[in-house]
Amino acid sequence: MVEIKMVGILGCGAMGAGIAQVVVTAGYSVVVREPQEGLLTRGISRIQKGLEKAVERGQLDPVGQGAALARLAGVTSLEGMRDCQLIIEALPEDLDLKKEHFRELDLLCSPSTVLASNTSSLTITELATSTKRPGQVIGLHFFNPAPVMELVEIVRTSLTSGATLDTAEAFVHSLGKASILAKDRPGFVVNRLLVPYLLDAIQSLEEGLAFTEEIDKGMRLGCGHPMGPLALADFIGLDVLFHIGETMFGEYREKRFAPPPLLRRMVIAGWLGKKTGRGFYDYSGAEPRPVSLDRGEN
Ligand code: CAA
Repeated sequence: MVEIKMVGILGCGAMGAGIAQVVVTAGYSVVVREPQEGLLTRGISRIQKGLEKAVERGQLDPVGQGAALARLAGVTSLEGMRDCQLIIEALPEDLDLKKEHFRELDLLCSPSTVLASNTSSLTITELATSTKRPGQVIGLHFFNPAPVMELVEIVRTSLTSGATLDTAEAFVHSLGKASILAKDRPGFVVNRLLVPYLLDAIQSLEEGLAFTEEIDKGMRLGCGHPMGPLALADFIGLDVLFHIGETMFGEYREKRFAPPPLLRRMVIAGWLGKKTGRGFYDYSGAEPRPVSLDRGEN
């Protein structure tokens, strides 16, 4: 097992910042990396805001917040991550981009460093074989919002060593998170089950089964889900959902993973959900308002 003291987080968007917040709060030193100063400043401010939210909610005291910030560093070059014992990649879902970074980190870091990916559906085996340390490459899939969701999926490939798996499990549990172990198959466990459900909700909306808010209310009140499927799709990001569906359909060739035409058109239109202010709901007002299909808005 590798003793972890310093963790690198590659990419500081919504997922990277959330993961960094969790890891730095658990007592590790954290180095986050974005290639440009502007993106880095935005990413660090996301982490600061998350820590403030945790204090507001009584999950962290101000002393803990100060100590967490003191353990956090930001860099723009990959060299700044060379001393990390674990690096978690949270880049956009572009396999070539991820492979390129894994190749560079493999050359830079100590031979014992573990390289992990937070990908939702891309192949961990392919990332592993882009390095000369395939035994030390593993999937660590966090859920959005990372500071709130309790689970991390640990994805083992046929090349992952037992020591890397032990290191990953011990690390995840030290964050106060629960883990499940999944094979390297598209969507792992959670997205394999969640994505067809979300796509089916979009298909049901398109077929006129019920209005947006009725579908969501049905699953919230009928099944006790914290969010209905269309609100959850907006929350995940319609581009992210579309991409995961495409990847899963590409591998399984099963219709249940194929993004419905409505989703594709919303992505083309730039209606990506909560992050762009519009998806199945309009987020411009105080409360989200369903965007009506009847008025031809979708
Ligand atoms: N640090 C940082 N932010 C925190 C926080 C903390 N310790 N505690 C709460 N927050 C944030 C929440 O994320 C939420 O942020 P937004 O306002 O930006 O949405 C806000 O503070 C309010 O939090 P509350 O817990 O008070 O609010 P809530 O009760 O409405 O819960 C929720 C919000 C946690 C998102 C809840 O609705 C929920 O659990 N929804 C389901 C989320 C889900 O299913 N996530 C998995 C998505 S799938 C995925 O991630 C995998 C993939 O690959 C696509």
